[in-house]
Amino acid sequence: MKHSCLNSKWILFIFFHGILLLFMSSSFQSARIPTSAIESDRLTLLDLKKRISEDPLQIMSSWNDSTHFCNWFGVTCNPSTKRVIILNLQAQRLAGTLTPSMGNLTYLTGIILGNNSFYGEIPQELGRLGRLQNLNLSRNSFGGNLPSNLSHCTQLRVLDVVYNKLVGQIPEQFSSLSKLVYLRLDANNLTGSIPAWIGNFSSLFVLSLIQNNLQGSIPSELGRLSGLGFFSLAMNNLSGTISSLIYNISSIYHFSVIQNQLHGSLPPDVGLTLPNLELFAGGVNSFTGPIPVSLSNASRLKELKFSYNDLTGTVPQNLAI
Ligand SMILES: *[C@@H]1O[C@H](CO)[C@@H](O)[C@H](O)[C@H]1NC(C)=O
Ligand SMILES: *[C@@H]1O[C@H](CO)[C@@H](O)[C@H](O)[C@H]1NC(C)=O
Ligand SMILES: *[C@@H]1O[C@H](CO)[C@@H](O)[C@H](O)[C@H]1NC(C)=O
Ligand SMILES: *[C@@H]1O[C@H](CO)[C@@H](O)[C@H](O)[C@H]1NC(C)=O
Ligand SMILES: *[C@@H]1O[C@H](CO)[C@@H](O)[C@H](O)[C@H]1NC(C)=O
Ligand SMILES: *[C@@H]1O[C@H](CO)[C@@H](O)[C@H](O)[C@H]1NC(C)=O
Ligand SMILES: *[C@@H]1O[C@H](CO)[C@@H](O)[C@H](O)[C@H]1NC(C)=O
Ligand SMILES: *[C@@H]1O[C@H](CO)[C@@H](O)[C@H](O)[C@H]1NC(C)=O
Ligand SMILES: *[C@@H]1O[C@H](CO)[C@@H](O)[C@H](O)[C@H]1NC(C)=O
Ligand SMILES: *[C@@H]1O[C@H](CO)[C@@H](O)[C@H](O)[C@H]1NC(C)=O
Repeated sequence: MKHSCLNSKWILFIFFHGILLLFMSSSFQSARIPTSAIESDRLTLLDLKKRISEDPLQIMSSWNDSTHFCNWFGVTCNPSTKRVIILNLQAQRLAGTLTPSMGNLTYLTGIILGNNSFYGEIPQELGRLGRLQNLNLSRNSFGGNLPSNLSHCTQLRVLDVVYNKLVGQIPEQFSSLSKLVYLRLDANNLTGSIPAWIGNFSSLFVLSLIQNNLQGSIPSELGRLSGLGFFSLAMNNLSGTISSLIYNISSIYHFSVIQNQLHGSLPPDVGLTLPNLELFAGGVNSFTGPIPVSLSNASRLKELKFSYNDLTGTVPQNLAI
């Protein structure tokens, strides 16, 4: 008995060392990325360069083999791993398409291509970028659907695709993007309804879905977004009433539902439940009832826009309507 007890301790001891050695060898390896992965990053960047069809500022001429790709314009690498972590080519007047091989840039945390003329579809392969935190494709001409596979990019904080030509619905799969802070899908041609699960995005600060073709009612679950600051659903085809839970998110400073088909009355205490309001706008809807006197308590309110409704009463002093 005694003997076997000692024996098992000794085995545990070795096993414990085994774990330690394993840990040490894996942390050692993470500092030495295989050269094949670095080479794959280089090939992917060259593949992307090939797909640039217009480059009036000749940005891409720096993407040549006279220097390591970590020094190419718009490319940021992790200094120790030499893997690409950020691709930032915003506002460079580039035209071209993205490439499925971008799914090989597995260390990427940011793809920032806003304000160019990229077109074509956003590749499903971006779903392979498990470290991606910032995807900013705003102000381009991307078409097709939002790629459902982005649902695997569960570290995403920013998804900004405003001013593109995207169609279809907000994919159900995006319910996994629970770390989003900025969700901006304005000025596309998205259809379907606003998913209730957006109410589960507890870090959301900006929800901006302006100027699409979204229908149905505004889910009351959005009332759970307790840190929301910017809330705009303007210029869609939304109907129904707005839940009192949404009028109760005290952090909101920008509230706009202009140009929809919403009805109902404004809560009498809205100026107290939304004390941080700077803009409160619901013009071109079918709201009825009195303009809440409590709005005079929202001391930062600069703009109150409710024209083209059936509201009655007087506007608090010093406010435009
Ligand atoms: C290659 O890139 C460097 C900067 O990285 C640039 O100075 C040089 O002009 C480029 N060469 C060509 C042929 O464009
Ligand atoms: C877009 O980029 C151009 C330069 O290419 C700049 O003049 C313009 O202000 C930018 N627009 C926005 C909205 O950032
Ligand atoms: C990169 O990705 C493409 C498409 O997803 C794949 O076919 C290719 O084998 C990958 N290349 C490398 C070098 O890993
Ligand atoms: C996305 O990029 C544009 C410029 O290209 C910038 O104005 C905008 O603030 C960015 N979006 C976010 C959420 O950071
Ligand atoms: C979608 O993402 C998954 C998970 O990252 C990946 O395995 C798969 O290859 C991606 N699909 C496509 C079509 O790239
Ligand atoms: C959202 O949260 C609710 C509970 O608060 C849960 O029942 C629901 O399954 C969640 N939805 C998703 C898509 O995660
Ligand atoms: C949006 O898509 C609908 C059909 O889904 C189409 O009738 C409409 O013209 C499109 N609007 C724009 C601005 O592209
Ligand atoms: C707006 O939504 C209603 C259904 O709520 C639908 O009948 C109507 O066609 C939609 N209008 C537009 C312009 O899409
Ligand atoms: C509004 O929020 C407050 C806390 O901020 C809470 O006590 C109250 O019950 C909420 N009202 C509604 C209608 O949800
Ligand atoms: C709201 O404002 C009115 C007058 O402007 C004031 O009498 C009242 O005390 C204020 N209420 C709160 C809760 O600040």
